[in-house]
Amino acid sequence: MKMLVTGGAGFIGSNFIRFILTKYPHYAVINFDKLTYAGNLENLRDVEHHPNYSFVKGDILNTELLIHVMKDVDVVAHFAAETHVDRSILGADAFVQTNVIGTYSVMEAARQTKVKRFHHISTDEVFGSLGPDGYFTEDTPYDPRSPYSAAKAASDHLVRAYYHTHGLPATISNCTNNYGPYMFPEKMMPLFITNLLEGKKVPLYGDGLNVRDWIHVDDHNRAVDLIIHEGKVGETYCISAREEKTNREVTDLVLQKMGFGPDMIEYVEDRKGHDRRYAIRPYKLMAELGWKPAISFDQGLSQMIEWYKNNPEWWKRVRSGEYQNYYAKQYGQKTGITI
Ligand code: NAD
Ligand code: DAU
Repeated sequence: MKMLVTGGAGFIGSNFIRFILTKYPHYAVINFDKLTYAGNLENLRDVEHHPNYSFVKGDILNTELLIHVMKDVDVVAHFAAETHVDRSILGADAFVQTNVIGTYSVMEAARQTKVKRFHHISTDEVFGSLGPDGYFTEDTPYDPRSPYSAAKAASDHLVRAYYHTHGLPATISNCTNNYGPYMFPEKMMPLFITNLLEGKKVPLYGDGLNVRDWIHVDDHNRAVDLIIHEGKVGETYCISAREEKTNREVTDLVLQKMGFGPDMIEYVEDRKGHDRRYAIRPYKLMAELGWKPAISFDQGLSQMIEWYKNNPEWWKRVRSGEYQNYYAKQYGQKTGITI
């Protein structure tokens, strides 16, 4: 089996490649990644010498290169995307290019090279924002509200169109908020953990009562593995560990586990168009493929904090580069993020 993973140098993709090479050491895995600010080959240092792992530096907009690399590839797992909502608010160009046109390009290459399976990694944000009640499922109509989620929604529609029109053997998964090791410290969880490790306050948007549904990255990747191997072509699967928390609850837990009090919270200006609540009911995945989460939020959060405590060189390097310059330029002190 030969698998091409796009975006394999990012947070979820790198954890996915490690998972696949551990579970199926005989699989050949090609990591295709542009190495944007979010892509970091250090995330895969422990597997880079694996005899069945190879890396190709490339942009998913480059269809020719993809066609060349996809020769003999059986499965494409498409993770590559621009992923940070705040960045999409500041400028949507890269989001439309990579998430929409890039996905089209990966599918075109997959169609022309006749891959046997194409799995598209998507997000619960395509469904919009929930009030206090209700849940997203595979039947929820799309209602994206940020440039990021609109670009992901467009890519999901294109994948379905390629399945119906060209018979591309595609599946899609829409997952909730991931957390875990190698998560780029611009997203809330790693930003807060690394801020606290540096003795800085944590910037909580708005009233802190927006709700996210958290899943450990390993549980997400086990679901993706199952869908690729046992999911039905043409189908969509929603993924969630059903760990709904307000941002304030997550913050309090992080503070408590790291030995800090609420005085370390700095309430800052809210995100524009901030979606209030995300929550998924993953019954289809559970009933049809027998998946269930293995890592509780409490356990996974403790593990994540330990990982950041034990890997300061990783996040200090990540934080000291483009990340700092980016926020210095774009945000300054406006959102309370301390540079
Ligand atoms: P990430 O930002 O950590 O990594 C994205 C990776 O894609 C990076 O390695 C980057 O270099 C690469 N990339 C970006 N543009 C590229 C291009 N044009 N060509 C080739 N490579 C490119 O992202 P992540 O958090 O690991 O998310 C991975 C996927 O999962 C995305 O599709 C995202 O929408 C989806 N997702 C993420 C979450 C989450 O909580 N992080 C939840 C649900 C779904
Ligand atoms: O739901 C899945 C999505 O989860 C993925 O598709 C996205 O790629 C991923 O980035 C994530 O999006 P969110 O916007 O939910 O994640 P983020 O970590 O940016 O924010 C989580 C919550 O925390 C959100 O309600 C905004 C809030 N927040 C975020 C940051 C960066 C803060 O309060 N302070 C912050 O500094």
